[in-house]
Amino acid sequence: MILYIGSDHAGYSLKEYLKNHLQQHGYEILDVGVHSETPADYPDIAHTLTAQLVQETRPALGILICGTGIGMCIAANKRPGIRAANASEPVSAALAREHNNANILCLGARVVGPELARATVEAFLRTGFSPEERHHRRVQKLELIGGDLKSHTEPLK
Ligand code: RB5
Repeated sequence: MILYIGSDHAGYSLKEYLKNHLQQHGYEILDVGVHSETPADYPDIAHTLTAQLVQETRPALGILICGTGIGMCIAANKRPGIRAANASEPVSAALAREHNNANILCLGARVVGPELARATVEAFLRTGFSPEERHHRRVQKLELIGGDLKSHTEPLK
């Protein structure tokens, strides 16, 4: 499992903590930055990480960290093929994988402490997408929500 990880300045310290922990547990980590606490714009990091993740041919997931996780999550979900979930505890992180087939976990470094963040990441990584048909149908429907506002009253098929 390849893990892409990125943060802005607010998430830098938590990124480094999680990166070290995950490397010690055998994950291959691809760190897209930032590499210091110099102020950085979260969309820049989300742009870089999501571009690399959707082009990755090996099994891969991503972790994006900012102050709240919210900006990273909004930015990441702009990229087709990305399903990013902002989670602050393990139950939501596991269900984001199991029900939503989330491929990025967003964390808020100003919201969760390092131990809770670590437990949340571990839940995300150890959980797979459910084999239940209903979850696959619902995730497929996510791809159908596009930019055509005129057809928004038509049911998704
Ligand atoms: C940076 O101050 C902060 O706005 C950013 O880390 C993030 O929380 C945005 O959603």
